[in-house]
Amino acid sequence: MKEYILAIESSCDDTSAAVLKGTTILSNVIANQDVHRLYGGVVPELASRAHQQNIIPVVDAAIKRANIQKNQICAIAYTRGPGLLGSLLVGSSFAKAFALAMDIPLIEVDHTNGHVLALFAQDENPTEVPEFPFLCLTVSGGHTQIMKVNDYFDLEIIGKTIDDAAGEAFDKAAKIMGMPYPGGPVIDKFAKEGNPKAFSFSRPNIPGLDYSFSGLKTSFLYFVRDRLREDPDFIEKNKYDLCASIQGEIIEMLMKKVVLAAKQTRINHVAIAGGVSANSGLQEALRAAGKKYHWKVFIPKFKFSTDNAAMIGVAGYLKYQRGEFANQTMTPYARSTYKDDK
Ligand code: KG4
Ligand code: ZN
Repeated sequence: MKEYILAIESSCDDTSAAVLKGTTILSNVIANQDVHRLYGGVVPELASRAHQQNIIPVVDAAIKRANIQKNQICAIAYTRGPGLLGSLLVGSSFAKAFALAMDIPLIEVDHTNGHVLALFAQDENPTEVPEFPFLCLTVSGGHTQIMKVNDYFDLEIIGKTIDDAAGEAFDKAAKIMGMPYPGGPVIDKFAKEGNPKAFSFSRPNIPGLDYSFSGLKTSFLYFVRDRLREDPDFIEKNKYDLCASIQGEIIEMLMKKVVLAAKQTRINHVAIAGGVSANSGLQEALRAAGKKYHWKVFIPKFKFSTDNAAMIGVAGYLKYQRGEFANQTMTPYARSTYKDDK
């Protein structure tokens, strides 16, 4: 029986394929692209070439791990955007060809929407899911938004960054300290050994529910540069405290607006999503705020928080149920299509 969804994610530097039955993830294979480490950031041309090399083996592994045959797949979902165009083209071309060859429907998924729907992904250990409407702080390398999630595909952006994303702030701070890309996981690890109050950096004063992270990055850059003049080993000697302090600042900035959003909307189901939601300090801060303000909090499982095809598959399954299919002429988009998005 045709009852499985195959999902493809290729928006940035991870090639991923997943197989789902309903919202249950049977396999979720991710090929990371180490080639970018040498350059301290994602090189778009190299990313699309690596996707080309990875896509067939990754899909093959996802189907094998799910222990199904490809003719049992009832639809293929793929990330249409936002992301790097060259990368998106690989996944979307593959999905279109697969849909044609297998004579099954094609489903396009928005990447950010996918991150939010990662909260609904199930595996062998069932997860409790939020009720609509809920608030979701969606934080990744490309986005920082507070969303009022009215329904699976009805995301209302009520706050957003006016410049850098939170993930970029982590990545840029790591780069300043000479740490590898992506910086978030490295800072997270070192921060556990450090004192978040050791150093402080200038914080912006942005009204309402919006964010700004570019000033923090500049303040961090100047701070480190000045200290290095006095002591060339400053970073090495203080890396734990530096990581804990910059992470602490980012988390405080993020949480302050989430608390305000919950007060303004009187919504008490509060979630985080996107790559930065893997941050242990942010998770702890959300749980603490949940206790303090009597929220019910939701955090996606680690394997579904950074870029992965399982989250695209959850969106794909929900669209499949609604009969919302794409066609062969739909082109990828690089920038977010949400109203009011940056
Ligand atoms: O969602 P994602 O995988 O890709 C985008 O859609 O951008 O997010 C990647 C971002 C990177 O900036 C990375 O440094 C950050 O998520 N990230 C983290 C952690 N894991 C990934 N940031 C802080 N702490 C982490 N543990
Ligand atoms: Zn992402």
